[in-house]
Amino acid sequence: MSKRIEVNGLNVYYNKFKAVEGVSMSIEPRTVTAFIGPSGCGKSTFLRTLNRMHEVIPGAWVEGEVKVDGDDLYAPGVDPVLVRRQVGMVFQRANPFPTMSIRDNVLAGVKLNNKRISRPEADDVVERSLQGANLWNEVKDRLDKPGMGLSGGQQQRLCIARAIAVQPDVLLMDEPCSALDPISTLAIEDLIEELKKDYTIVIVTHNMQQASRVSDKTAFFNIAGTGQPGHLIEYGDTATIFSNPSVQATEDYVSGRFG
Ligand SMILES: Nc1ncnc2c1ncn2[C@@H]1O[C@H](COP(=O)(O)OP(=O)(O)O)[C@@H](O)[C@H]1O
Ligand SMILES: [Mg+2]
Repeated sequence: MSKRIEVNGLNVYYNKFKAVEGVSMSIEPRTVTAFIGPSGCGKSTFLRTLNRMHEVIPGAWVEGEVKVDGDDLYAPGVDPVLVRRQVGMVFQRANPFPTMSIRDNVLAGVKLNNKRISRPEADDVVERSLQGANLWNEVKDRLDKPGMGLSGGQQQRLCIARAIAVQPDVLLMDEPCSALDPISTLAIEDLIEELKKDYTIVIVTHNMQQASRVSDKTAFFNIAGTGQPGHLIEYGDTATIFSNPSVQATEDYVSGRFG
């Protein structure tokens, strides 16, 4: 659990359009890294290359390397399905499976991975994952009720429970709080702080306060103009990026002058 990510010279394309260019960075285990930058600069696109979700889109491809503890996710013969098990993802809109119970939502990924799991094993996974997502106490008496019956913030924690149920090494989150109220947002931020003990976490956020509250490292991405590829402009300790960045564009962005 919790592995190091190393990206070398990554270019990301949609057909002929180069959406992200020349990204190299290392992300340490048991840290939270925030990706910030204006809309359209390629944060989501780049994030999705870290678990090979990008190539699910027809015509989407990459050049370069993404290594997780030294193993290149894009090496020939690597199974993208196993990569997505190892590197979990939580999306902007909580997306529990609408017809499934809370319990079955947590087990959805586990059941895809191993065909057979005994009832006691399944119960353990459900409890451990919901505990891990700080949701157990709120739902333990209604595990067989639909996941859709939960509040937005609870649904997002349910999606986090589903992601951690398969015991990934890395958790990617794309604006996980953007549809949530401030209280639910703080609950997710507290949870991220907890999960950091066990996982390498990367979070895309539009919220500067959130980036400075939850992350150890911050990566600022930018684009020169529409149709241009996004670039990683500056990457460093969150405190430095917010208080003493080296690049003018970073300073302009974090101080709210654009984006
Ligand atoms: N499925 C897609 N097909 C084609 N182009 C896309 C797709 N998704 C995103 N893009 C383009 O890639 C660029 C980066 O988008 P995105 O990664 O969503 O940026 P961000 O998450 O930083 O707002 C944009 O120009 C966007 O229009
Ligand atoms: Mg995005």
